[in-house]
Amino acid sequence: MLGCGTVGTQVVRLLLEQSEEFAARAGARLEVTGVAVRDASAPRDQAVPRELLTDDATRVATSNDLVIELIGGIEPARTLILAAFRAGASVITGNKALIAAHGPELYAAAAAAEVDFYYEAAVAGAIPVVYALRESMAGDLVTSVLGIVNGTTNYILDEMSTKGLSFDQALATAQELGYAEADPTADVDGLDAAAKAAIIASLAFHTRVGLDDVTVEGIRSVTAADIREAHASGCEIKLLAIAQRRDDDHARGISVRVHPALVPADHPLASVHGAFNAVLIEAQSAGRLMFYGQGAGGAPTASAVLSDVVAAAAHRVHGGQAPRESSYADLPILGPEAALTRYQVQLRVDDQPGSLAIVAGVFAEHEVSIDSVRQSAYVGGSRAVVTIVTHRAAVAHLEAAVAGLRSEARVLDVVSVQRVEGE
Ligand code: NDP
Ligand code: HSE
Repeated sequence: MLGCGTVGTQVVRLLLEQSEEFAARAGARLEVTGVAVRDASAPRDQAVPRELLTDDATRVATSNDLVIELIGGIEPARTLILAAFRAGASVITGNKALIAAHGPELYAAAAAAEVDFYYEAAVAGAIPVVYALRESMAGDLVTSVLGIVNGTTNYILDEMSTKGLSFDQALATAQELGYAEADPTADVDGLDAAAKAAIIASLAFHTRVGLDDVTVEGIRSVTAADIREAHASGCEIKLLAIAQRRDDDHARGISVRVHPALVPADHPLASVHGAFNAVLIEAQSAGRLMFYGQGAGGAPTASAVLSDVVAAAAHRVHGGQAPRESSYADLPILGPEAALTRYQVQLRVDDQPGSLAIVAGVFAEHEVSIDSVRQSAYVGGSRAVVTIVTHRAAVAHLEAAVAGLRSEARVLDVVSVQRVEGE
């Protein structure tokens, strides 16, 4: 074991407590031979026997059959994993940041050493999304994956939605409860979700997708007023990771992005509360598949790590190996302009005959099709608030339509433009 913090402690505890079960499943007894940490003398959970602790991570990485990396971050995790492969070890990790940044190098090193490389815990904690995409969907063509893959941001948005808290208040609560780190950047700015989106897209579309290929927007700008407006439209705001395949007259390739979006209240992702995660896979033959569960936390994440440990151990005993990286499709990675999304546009208009016709004409002129229109009286004169939800549109068309609306005298103000996902 490399690292013994939130997740590692639970992995050691379960390996020791349930050793008979794991021996039966793997076909051989699994012995924890060493646990490398930064400070071997620091006080820790009593589930971790002190005699196993060491600060010699290189020795642990290079003298075992299986190496479980739960340090996190890029270095020294990358160097230790590469050393483990060279020493003939199979590696299990939950390190999405490392895979999103250096996946191809790690897959190639594992293949060259003819060992296993597993990372179920890297995406959505306990939920078996990696297995589903890599193995269960091997007989199908995935068309899109839509997910809530960051528990911290879902917790914050849920607190804002259910308790009317501001972003800052909800973030402070998340930090008090230990969901958000003291430096919450990776979560609230969408970087953690983006790393997971890159892994999801690579697996779903058999194409190498790195962190730089993901268009990212976090949740810092979501306000309590945005949430109230979302409720008025029958929606919740969720931070979504979206991986989409496009193969139409305008674009061929994949679009991968992370951003907040309105989700209709009757969509399954809208009822994902607290720090839970959920992933919706759409595939040509299977249709829709929904996965839901705990995306973080020591024991739930340990469950995913241990499933990989059992698989890698069984290969040592009985032969066989983990599926290799599959990037044969090598689809083009499309830029943010290729994202096809529904939009909700809120306008303040002059409530006169013909205003709605003018608004509809602007959308039509820019090839944006309207799905629904709702008008509410605006207090204080002959003005109305019109809320328009579009069908899926390219961002360039939507932006052109919004610019056109701004130049119409009857349109007093474009109040907000928000993306809508989930149908
Ligand atoms: P923690 O920060 O709780 O633990 C990190 C561990 O790594 C600590 O034991 C630390 O030692 C050890 N460590 C740090 N630097 C070194 C080093 N240079 N050499 C040896 N050991 C070192 O992390 P988590 O358990 O939360 O996360 C581990 C991994 O799992 C990460 O990749 C994370 O992204 C992933 N993950 C975590 C989830 C979660 O809910 N926490 C969910 C899904 C994935 P010491 O104890 O001495 O400080
Ligand atoms: N920080 C992550 C989250 C942990 O909030 O979901 C799991 O990757």
